[in-house]
Amino acid sequence: MTSLPYELSQAIEMEVSKIDFSLFSQALLELSLSYRNNEKVFITSLARRLAYIGVRLPATYSAILATLLEIKNKLPSTQLTSLLDLGAGPGTTLWAALTTWPEISKVTLVERDREMISLGKTLTSNSTNPFINSAQWLNLDLANKQNFSQHDLVVVSYALGEMDSATKQNALLQAWQATEKVLVIIEPGTVKGFHNILLARDFLILSEANIIAPCPHKNVCPITEGDWCHFSGRVERSSFHRRAKGGVLSYEDEKFSYIIASKELTSGNYSDYSRVIRHPLKRPRHIHLDLCTNNGLSRATISQKNKDAYKLARKLSWGDTWEQMLKETQE
Ligand SMILES: C[S@@+](CC[C@H](N)C(=O)[O-])C[C@H]1O[C@@H](n2cnc3c(N)ncnc32)[C@H](O)[C@@H]1O
Repeated sequence: MTSLPYELSQAIEMEVSKIDFSLFSQALLELSLSYRNNEKVFITSLARRLAYIGVRLPATYSAILATLLEIKNKLPSTQLTSLLDLGAGPGTTLWAALTTWPEISKVTLVERDREMISLGKTLTSNSTNPFINSAQWLNLDLANKQNFSQHDLVVVSYALGEMDSATKQNALLQAWQATEKVLVIIEPGTVKGFHNILLARDFLILSEANIIAPCPHKNVCPITEGDWCHFSGRVERSSFHRRAKGGVLSYEDEKFSYIIASKELTSGNYSDYSRVIRHPLKRPRHIHLDLCTNNGLSRATISQKNKDAYKLARKLSWGDTWEQMLKETQE
């Protein structure tokens, strides 16, 4: 389960405590409704911004962190020392990236909403990490052509879904042009979010990017109409989050879709794996794995008789990679 960095959770609690709790709860309700109605611009008041940092930020943080850890997993020797975040909101990615790579020493955050920038700066103001509180915030709209300098890592997280088609294309182009090493796009784990990821994937394949994850290939995506490729991250709920939602659970699960692309060719055959795309079905004497493979979707059944493979498969979770191609056991 993911927890926010202590400094960030303290800063959020401090900000949220500044408004009346009923206003916070009301804003949270409005925010959820806006999400459900697929509205494009919904973080439009102070109360909604605070609802975002109090409740949505921890969830998007867990999705971003899980995705960044996948870069570490797939590209262990890639050094990342600079970050460009497009559609940065209150700076969620900044915190997740500095947690993953403390060596990041240059951060540029691009956001069109001045008030969100101001809130993001407030959250970082007491950080003891000099690279967190010296991040450069740019108040720009990605609908316009910008010439961003090259950064090792570029992230567009939960932002494409708020853009019209032309802005999305513009943002993808600018993101890829500014990428020195790795680009990450993350969207909500919904049909709509996945469609944005497919759009980004098509763009990246046309741009001759190396697709690092989650896809183990560059073939046409085998996920069929009505289904969507997504993963899940578990995040700890704060006490005010539990109170606002009237929930008792100490955590919530955030569903997300993502794509990681690299400009560098990596050593090793990084695409020689399959991706576990659903919770493994662990039965008494066998395990079913639903996999995305080089040859499309497939279900592998790992029998207890296949001792080594079974031992490995027992440890797998949804979203993990399965390096062994157990052709003889595939259905
Ligand atoms: C849902 S928030 C996500 C924030 C953060 N990336 C995260 O994952 O928590 C999306 C942010 O993208 C920003 N955004 C949307 N369209 C934009 C554009 N055309 N130019 C710059 N920022 C944009 C919004 O203002 C908002 O703050």
